[in-house]
Amino acid sequence: MESGSKGPGSLFNRNLVSIKQLDKGVIEEILAESERMLEIYKSNSRPNLLAGRIMASMFFEPSTRTRLSFESAMHRLGGSVIGFADPLSTSSAKGETLSDTVRIMSAYADILVIRHPTEGAITGALDSASVPLVNAGDGTGQHPTQALYDLFAIKKEKGRLTNLNVALVGDLKHGRAIHSLAYALAIFGNSLTLISPQSLKMPASMVADLERSYGIRIIQHDSLDQALNADAVYIPRMQKERFSDQKEYERVAAYYVIDKRFMAMAGSDTIILSPLPRTMEINPEVDTMKNAAYFRQAAYGVPVRMAVLKMILKGR
Ligand code: CP
Repeated sequence: MESGSKGPGSLFNRNLVSIKQLDKGVIEEILAESERMLEIYKSNSRPNLLAGRIMASMFFEPSTRTRLSFESAMHRLGGSVIGFADPLSTSSAKGETLSDTVRIMSAYADILVIRHPTEGAITGALDSASVPLVNAGDGTGQHPTQALYDLFAIKKEKGRLTNLNVALVGDLKHGRAIHSLAYALAIFGNSLTLISPQSLKMPASMVADLERSYGIRIIQHDSLDQALNADAVYIPRMQKERFSDQKEYERVAAYYVIDKRFMAMAGSDTIILSPLPRTMEINPEVDTMKNAAYFRQAAYGVPVRMAVLKMILKGR
């Protein structure tokens, strides 16, 4: 996509499957629209921008934030929602393929928001869709709208999206939120400090692609001390359901923990972010500290998804 394009808008009638399909200009457009949506969200007005439009919410994997913030976003813009949160209640339990389900749902809704446990499954179903499709997380692959509201949160908290050193901590192998955010930060030329146990390193091909395609500085380490001076520390949970060896999960589940001790040593401007849900990696004792930004971050999911829905369905 070209940045700064004229006409109905860069996301209009497009699929959103990966953060990598967006350039800096388009992301800036989405974040600007998100600011406008934040005002609508805070004023609790209902502008009916998407009245008469239907969003299908199709979740083949558990979700709280993504599914319900998308649904809240659609309702706040006057649209309607159909869908499912339990695939066992659908004909996929009888063996219907994702492609067939997408083909059918395209006749029932104006936009499909899909989460699926298999990386690449949503991209694979694109040819069956006759309405725009949004990837709400595909296995260990991508979670583009998560990255968009992560960027929005960083901009709100730090006042900028450039010249940052962000520490990505923990399960860098399986975390789709991490994978999307790494690219989103790279698009803005930021430095990354990747902190993980040896077994959970970011795939080498992804690190090489980030370095080669964006020319950014990447440091890899296994000590949380390397995050102490970061501008932001992004720490998702260890992705238990994606470990083939549950003993290995138990070994690393609490490998890194953000607690008051860490916060006392960290820089006074170091903020803590997480896509949530949390398990053991952030001690609740940190929740009330001013640099604990993860609950503010989660709330931004609504206005950013309002922006995405509005820009895809209605344009600028
Ligand atoms: N961050 C995120 O994707 O949360 P959910 O799994 O609850 O949607």
